[in-house]
Amino acid sequence: QDPRLAGIAASIRVIPDFPKAGIMFQDITTLLLDVKAFRDTIDLFVDRYKDKGISVVAGIEARGFIFGPPIALAIGAKFVPLRKPKKLPGEVISEEYSLEYGTDKIEMHVGAVEAGERALIVDDLIATGGTLNAAIRLLERVGVEVYECACLMELPELKGRERLGDKPLFVLVQSSVDAHDHH
Ligand code: PRP
Ligand code: MG
Repeated sequence: QDPRLAGIAASIRVIPDFPKAGIMFQDITTLLLDVKAFRDTIDLFVDRYKDKGISVVAGIEARGFIFGPPIALAIGAKFVPLRKPKKLPGEVISEEYSLEYGTDKIEMHVGAVEAGERALIVDDLIATGGTLNAAIRLLERVGVEVYECACLMELPELKGRERLGDKPLFVLVQSSVDAHDHH
């Protein structure tokens, strides 16, 4: 295992009972305060994705907006934000996904990507996999090839990986839901 991963894992703070009782919140703002951990995180993704023909990095609101752009710049790809509903001003396409209670949506601007492009999807965390599943559907609907999904963290016990079908998922750090419930 890469020696940089331990420092990255240690820089992520866990806050119990946020935003509600029983949730162990994985707080990546402490990783951003640690210049070496933040740089190592970006470098590990860039080493993996450079020279792979990726023309689009699609970042998922909100924390995919922090990690996606530096990766995009370093590999020479454009950055496309996948946003929560009613945030993007232009014409959008959207995909729904289920939450614990009810549903949510993510949206992308029409014209941001073209059929035949190759995309990397970036987010901070995969829990149930619903969000990434919707992001994959959004891009594939418009003929974009999803090369891989990349996250800092995975909660493997929630089996989110299984909701991605045959789409590859790459994560730097795994956390247990025993210690760290959801999110
Ligand atoms: C969290 C996290 C992922 C998503 C993972 O975001 O940042 O985007 O949940 O959950 P899933 O795998 O079960 O879909 P959240 O929706 O809380 O919003 P935020 O990033 O805007 O805070
Ligand atoms: Mg999120």
